[in-house]
Amino acid sequence: ADELRAALGGRWARVQVVEQTGSTNADLLADTGAPDRSVLVAEAQQAGRGRLDRGWTSPPGAGLTFSVLVRPAAPIATWGWLPLLTGVTLREAVSEAAGVEVSVKWPNDLLAAADGRKLAGILAQTSGEAVVIGIGLNVSTSDEELPVETATSLALCGAGEVDRTRLLVAILNRLDARLAQWDDVGGDAEACGLAAAYREACSTLRLRVAVTALDGRRIEGVARDVDSAGRLLVTTLDGGESVIGAGDVEHLRPI
Ligand code: BTN
Repeated sequence: ADELRAALGGRWARVQVVEQTGSTNADLLADTGAPDRSVLVAEAQQAGRGRLDRGWTSPPGAGLTFSVLVRPAAPIATWGWLPLLTGVTLREAVSEAAGVEVSVKWPNDLLAAADGRKLAGILAQTSGEAVVIGIGLNVSTSDEELPVETATSLALCGAGEVDRTRLLVAILNRLDARLAQWDDVGGDAEACGLAAAYREACSTLRLRVAVTALDGRRIEGVARDVDSAGRLLVTTLDGGESVIGAGDVEHLRPI
């Protein structure tokens, strides 16, 4: 933790590293007094959560498993951008520190550009004035250790030895900078260049997609853009427009 703190140069208010815990997201959500820019890193999680109550497994030492807590000044209506902001940041940091090219599947899965398999997931949860953003990134995970065939790791993408601390520092430095830029303009993703960076990073845009909503609705159309709240705009086959929030989606796939 000291090495990490020193490398971050004081820009993160609280940096904690633990051997193991249930879920770093759950821990920070329960920590109601945690300051803005808190980080909790775990070597292992017993009850890692993914989106939609799915699990998240990562063998100890093979991945990066951590959560950050932020207290944005930007209006709550813009907070939908936070997981997208994190996806853009991860993409930049992974390219810089591991030399692996990735794209973002809307809203915030990180996919290997080479084969479209999933490298990292992001889980953002709100508690009052705070947002906890959890990141699980497969670093040296082997084929046998991966829970599903559609997952991959930086090592499997040919990254070689990746220094996890260096990678984490790259992620946190970039995350802090992007968060500050976004917060400074009141969460306006267009004004701080975030929307442009997301459009470039996102491989879902311009594709024909089938979306299954949590309420069972099925939408087919072309993923056209993202709006000021980070929602996906889909032009349906009949020429109408659907606005899809990240929290409404059960499943999204290209067709
Ligand atoms: C997903 O793809 O569904 C999101 C996965 C998020 C996993 C991370 S690991 C660190 C943090 N703690 C958790 O329990 N979940 C997130």
